[in-house]
Amino acid sequence: MDRDIREEIYETALAWVREAGVNIRNKINDPLVVDTKSNPNDLVTTMDKETESFFVSRIKEKYPTHSIVGEEGYGDKLTSMKGTVWIIDPIDGTMNFVHQKRNFAISIGIYHDGIGEIGIIYDVMADNMYHAKYKNGAYKNDVRLLALTKKSNIEEAIIGMNHFWLCENRLVDERIMQKFVKRIRGTRTYGSAALEFAFLAEGIIDGYLSMSLSPWDVAAGIVIVGEVGGGTTDINGLQLNMLEKNSILTCNMNIQDDILDYLKKAKK
Ligand code: IPD
Ligand code: CA
Ligand code: CA
Ligand code: CA
Repeated sequence: MDRDIREEIYETALAWVREAGVNIRNKINDPLVVDTKSNPNDLVTTMDKETESFFVSRIKEKYPTHSIVGEEGYGDKLTSMKGTVWIIDPIDGTMNFVHQKRNFAISIGIYHDGIGEIGIIYDVMADNMYHAKYKNGAYKNDVRLLALTKKSNIEEAIIGMNHFWLCENRLVDERIMQKFVKRIRGTRTYGSAALEFAFLAEGIIDGYLSMSLSPWDVAAGIVIVGEVGGGTTDINGLQLNMLEKNSILTCNMNIQDDILDYLKKAKK
């Protein structure tokens, strides 16, 4: 993507994310209409829909040739990543939004011909903007994030992951994952995939492991983590398909092989 065009899109996207964030904060105590989607714990609110439709109408007006993929379905149905594609999660961590009124994020990844050019993750209530441009470094607000420091072993690593890895499941042998959890220093579960990527980029966790994430959960995070030298793959160590769901590992490259080894042993 041309540098000047990217710069213009980046500034515009950041301004829209800030505007959407202000709107959410202003309405945070308003009564919520909460619906469920695939199961009783899969929540969606009027604010998820309002926020996504805000982005979609702005993008369609200013950039009519760009494509949009959004969780709540206001975007397009894509079969390829050709051209410029905005991948939007209007509220990542809806359960936190509903129950905690914090710990959720707006996440936008902008890809061009399949390359992640821009990543923006906004922790709305903490007012922290994580943002990156391909090959231009990653930032938390105005501060450039440092490259991930070397960790010699996974014994010192804190990994973001949830309890599903340790319960009986269809993907992996939970007993091997229990061994993994015993070996690392600790786990964290933040309830927003986007924030887990942002926290990895910030260096406050060392990796994040998640089953079955959608492109909008990871699109921005991949760009931001990539800019601090971290890597994101599926749990077999292969490149993600951005048009499908993936179970993912994103981490400091120093511990990638060790974690992939556990996943290989655990795979059903
Ligand atoms: C969810 C969050 C959560 C992850 C789920 C996602 P949503 O996104 O990122 O942390 O475990 O798999 O679906 O639905 O709140 O946007
Ligand atoms: Ca959702
Ligand atoms: Ca999400
Ligand atoms: Ca969402």
